[in-house]
Amino acid sequence: MGEIVRLQKYIAMSGTASRRAAEQLIDEGRVAVNGKKVTEQGVKVEIGCDTVEVDGILLKVNDKKIYIALNKPTGYVTTVKDQFDRPTVIDLVEKEIHTRVFPVGRLDYETEGLLLMTNDGDWANKVTHPKFESKKKYYAVLKGVLTIPELNKIRRGVVIDGKKTRPAECEIMEIDMGMTLVEITIHEGRNRQVRKMFEAVGHTVKALKRESIGIVELGNLPEGRWRYLTSSEIEYFRRK
Ligand code: URA
Repeated sequence: MGEIVRLQKYIAMSGTASRRAAEQLIDEGRVAVNGKKVTEQGVKVEIGCDTVEVDGILLKVNDKKIYIALNKPTGYVTTVKDQFDRPTVIDLVEKEIHTRVFPVGRLDYETEGLLLMTNDGDWANKVTHPKFESKKKYYAVLKGVLTIPELNKIRRGVVIDGKKTRPAECEIMEIDMGMTLVEITIHEGRNRQVRKMFEAVGHTVKALKRESIGIVELGNLPEGRWRYLTSSEIEYFRRK
């Protein structure tokens, strides 16, 4: 089944007119759906199934699905529009993609690393749905030296926002100049989860980078750059 959208959106997606102008075309009786004139607003059509004509000319809509992996730098928000006008991750991809995509889940403004983006809402829901929650691996630089008892607490779960986190894999990679580099893999996606987990055992996260989500890895993708996901990466989340 194709995506179901309002008629004016469909017309706008075809590049014929803006949504506002499309509403006017409908008012003027110039639009037909499946060969029948439509003059009321709010009619819905299915992409790839219904036909839409304006002045008797058949419109074509590209509903090609796009799936990408971005190496998000720090200093970008993962919302589509920011209330403080800070740069968004959309700014990093839109020039080359020419299609509207949105971030799958979120990364904090200060967090860097792997962010998935798509225009496929069903797929995005699968990736982020708590029931299917994929494992996510991060590298975190902590202020102070993480002790073994603290490490074990992180692994077993700590209480953040009144609820215990699920067991996590965590390893100390390096201790240097009073800082600890850890690798941590979590299976949930709660708000600022990694930062809050380490805060709960007394350590501030100074830097945080996401390395992987499920089977998708950041690899050597340069900062601020993106790549298309492979078909097996896309299917991995669909099968969940
Ligand atoms: N955990 C955090 O604390 N921040 C992120 O951006 C992602 C996970």
